[in-house]
Amino acid sequence: MKLIVILFIIKTVISLRSSDHHQLSIHKIPLGSEATFNWRIQPIDETVEIEIHYSADEFSWFAIGFSKRGEFKNADYCVLWIDWHRDVHFNDAWSNENGILNIDEHQDCNGFVWKKPDINNLTKFAFTRKFDTCDVHDYVIERGTTHIVWSKGTGPLSSLNGLDIIADSTSSSMSRTELLKFGKHINNIFPTDTWKYELLADQVRVPDVETTYWCRVQRLPHILSKKHHILQFGPAIQKGNEHLVHHMEVFHCAGSIDASVPLYSGPCDSPDRPQATQICKKVLAAWAMGADAFVYPKETGLSIGGEQFNPYIMLEIHYNNPERIKEKIDSSGIEFYLTETLRKYDAGVIELGLEYIDKMAIPPRQESFELSGHCIAECTGVGLPQSGIYVFGSQLHTHLTGTKVQTRHIRDGQELSPLNYDNHYSTHFQEIRLLPKPVHVMPGDSLITTCSYNTLDRENVTLGGFSISDEMCVNYIHYYPNARLEVCKSSISDDALRTYFRYMREWENQKTNFDDEISTSYKNIEWTKIRVAALHDLYQAAPLSMQCNSSDGSRLPGLWDNSAATPVKLPLAPPARDCPSINSHNNNLDQSM
Ligand SMILES: *[C@@H]1O[C@H](CO)[C@@H](O)[C@H](O)[C@H]1NC(C)=O
Ligand SMILES: *[C@@H]1O[C@H](CO)[C@@H](O)[C@H](O)[C@H]1NC(C)=O
Ligand SMILES: *[C@@H]1O[C@H](CO)[C@@H](O)[C@H](O)[C@H]1NC(C)=O
Repeated sequence: MKLIVILFIIKTVISLRSSDHHQLSIHKIPLGSEATFNWRIQPIDETVEIEIHYSADEFSWFAIGFSKRGEFKNADYCVLWIDWHRDVHFNDAWSNENGILNIDEHQDCNGFVWKKPDINNLTKFAFTRKFDTCDVHDYVIERGTTHIVWSKGTGPLSSLNGLDIIADSTSSSMSRTELLKFGKHINNIFPTDTWKYELLADQVRVPDVETTYWCRVQRLPHILSKKHHILQFGPAIQKGNEHLVHHMEVFHCAGSIDASVPLYSGPCDSPDRPQATQICKKVLAAWAMGADAFVYPKETGLSIGGEQFNPYIMLEIHYNNPERIKEKIDSSGIEFYLTETLRKYDAGVIELGLEYIDKMAIPPRQESFELSGHCIAECTGVGLPQSGIYVFGSQLHTHLTGTKVQTRHIRDGQELSPLNYDNHYSTHFQEIRLLPKPVHVMPGDSLITTCSYNTLDRENVTLGGFSISDEMCVNYIHYYPNARLEVCKSSISDDALRTYFRYMREWENQKTNFDDEISTSYKNIEWTKIRVAALHDLYQAAPLSMQCNSSDGSRLPGLWDNSAATPVKLPLAPPARDCPSINSHNNNLDQSM
């Protein structure tokens, strides 16, 4: 009888999920090739409803959870397990720094329902989890990237306490996704002449290595010699390959209209890749595992085609094949919805952050070193229209050592809500994200993009630059109506850097000289704790060299050398947590100060 009731609940949970299209959509990502993670968020109660499907033997255990950057140790789990009486348990547990599980004092994996394995050994279970349970052992689910970790193993178990989440498992893995998706454009109707254009890989034999970046250059169809708007883009994944296609980007080969680009198809880093394809760099679309289609707000579309538009574009697919599966053929890609019935506004992109040059550096062996790129009030003042712009999407970007990115928004000295942030950023998970709601940016506002880097495993200094081993700190913001401004980035001013290198030479006896290569000076510094702290302070205080450029590549009028960063007189308090015990704890601290 009990079982029948449970089956019924699972059934209504699932059918409820599939009939409710209004606001709460269901999302799904594969967990390796053996399991799927299905979820829906309930923004009002701040909970996530999660449903796991996996295949395994009858008495196996399955742990699903979260951790800061995808590690199995120091992770927070909800575990389904079966004891030797064949009783089913579901517990909130955490793994310590050795990966050993402990049942949590506070049980926060709620509303558990499950369905016994069927004839295909497929087990399903569902539960809910609050974003913030206020428990010190629980992971706080935040906006941005969430690292989902899972393990499964053979049962039955005598107890959950003491289980080794790594050594006792038969398989385990980590997936990244944007769990808290709030952005959704409802009532977005496409014109009747909308058509679908697919840019797909052509029967790629996916190499049996962990990471492959595959590039395919294509010529757009002739009809796109007339300007169109992209209204939506999204994944077109070949069925059965969902776990292999990790992320995809489409680049425009932004050259002159008659620049011809070879129709290359092959690994992106192959020596056979023609040099001429290197101009295919301007991002048109980006998708990563777990993301839905990106739908432009109804006021705007992304311009593609037209008489001045070079007709070549390139698809880049990152195949992730840790199981080293052989002989997989793939023709996945991106599908676009296009119309020639243009919307009111062309969408635009502005680059915020740091310039791609070696004037900014990250010392080696740092757990978290921050660099900030400024878009100052004077630049938005001349670059944005009087009525401002609406930012609806954002793609954060760093290279390998970036761990956090945020863009702060300042108006008249007062800090507003951040434009976007990701406290668990990974270079391996980049997507253009819809903001929960469009952010209005006015001329005279300033935007500060700050990135944190972890260089613990680097022995040499890391410099700003284009190469994958160099670093970047960028936020590509997507907005309308199209403005003059396209690049609003900074670096330390030449004068400040010259003074710093002279100081390091004369007082610290380092081989630094601004008139040599900047990178050489940085590489010559022997990094000590004090020198690292001094560099941090220098970057915080030094005047800026601003790049305030328009979309035709020219500089907007103004004085952009030795500019001051726009001051933040009223910084935003850290977001309050709705946790009685934690808040009263804070209050006590306040009183004692
Ligand atoms: C289900 O698991 C049992 C062992 O527990 C195995 O004998 C059987 O072949 C499995 N069935 C399928 C369809 O995989
Ligand atoms: C670090 O720099 C030294 C000196 O330039 C060089 O010999 C070494 O190969 C570099 N190490 C790495 C990992 O690049
Ligand atoms: C901005 O424009 C100037 C002048 O055209 C150019 O030298 C500079 O490289 C541009 N900066 C960026 C970041 O595009």
